[in-house]
Amino acid sequence: MATPDNLSGNRKHFLDLGDISAAEVRHILDGARRIKARRRTPLESDKVLKGKSIAMIFEQPSLRTRLSFDMGIRELGGESVMVTGKEIELGERESIADTARVLSRYVDGIMIRMLDHKQLVELAENATVPVLNGLTKTSHPCQVMADVLTFEEHKGAIEGRTVSWVGDSNNVLRSWVEASAKLGFTIRIATPEELQPRADLIEWAKANKADLRLMHDPHKAVEGSDCVIADAWVSMGDKDAGRRHNLLKPYQVNRELMRSAGDQAIFMHCLPAKRGEEVTDEVMDGPQSVVFDEAENRLHAQKSILAWAYGQSFA
Ligand code: CP
Ligand code: NVA
Repeated sequence: MATPDNLSGNRKHFLDLGDISAAEVRHILDGARRIKARRRTPLESDKVLKGKSIAMIFEQPSLRTRLSFDMGIRELGGESVMVTGKEIELGERESIADTARVLSRYVDGIMIRMLDHKQLVELAENATVPVLNGLTKTSHPCQVMADVLTFEEHKGAIEGRTVSWVGDSNNVLRSWVEASAKLGFTIRIATPEELQPRADLIEWAKANKADLRLMHDPHKAVEGSDCVIADAWVSMGDKDAGRRHNLLKPYQVNRELMRSAGDQAIFMHCLPAKRGEEVTDEVMDGPQSVVFDEAENRLHAQKSILAWAYGQSFA
């Protein structure tokens, strides 16, 4: 997905991992690790959002994104203001471009969750303050930054390792694929034939030398892997729940599938999870699961993303 020219000066949009250099992705992850380590004893210089306000706009529901951004902004000395897309009739009362121009007069940054990725790009093109992607139908880069942070805490450097995605080809998967190109790890993807990754993602992966392995057998996909990843079978905005349930039943991550993966594999899920559908209780609550670390790491990863968006970093 094409990104608008990034902002001038030290301000930058955070729309997709594919738009950011590998060095910047690594820089954000390093900052996240540092700011996490000193969360309870921050340095004065960590208050990189002092005097700054961020608008948070949600067109869809959220627990993690909303709360982790809000707390992160506060911990960095900034302020946030939250509105729903419904309250402002996003894209209806006025153009997305005009919304961006108006918001830029009030706040220092915009974090937004909206389904339409093209509209996110349009917003960023017309904003004079950083725009951060809090999930679109196309991608979820904040999530995958937190996930890579979590992976590395449990398993060490991700470069050269293998992660296995099991289920639907959705927004979170796209950001994982983009991360794999930036950070140099293999991603095996097991989906039903009908729910394969879109051709443009496969082309992007090829052009960017991501090591992508597409397959249909979930057991084969997870064998010997460092990490098994699941996500909801029905994502926000999906209208074919019945069909998805039928297609994805064989892709449930359960004890048997984790046995095929092996004891070395961790289990990840961005949450919210539908227990009993894409993942069973025994896996969610089992010893290989790191799902609540992922949820916590949203906070730390996003603090580092916010710092980066304003040309700051946590040394
Ligand atoms: N993982 C995630 O983005 O959760 P929310 O939808 O609750 O924000
Ligand atoms: N793929 C899921 C992620 C939720 C955080 C969705 O888009 O609904």
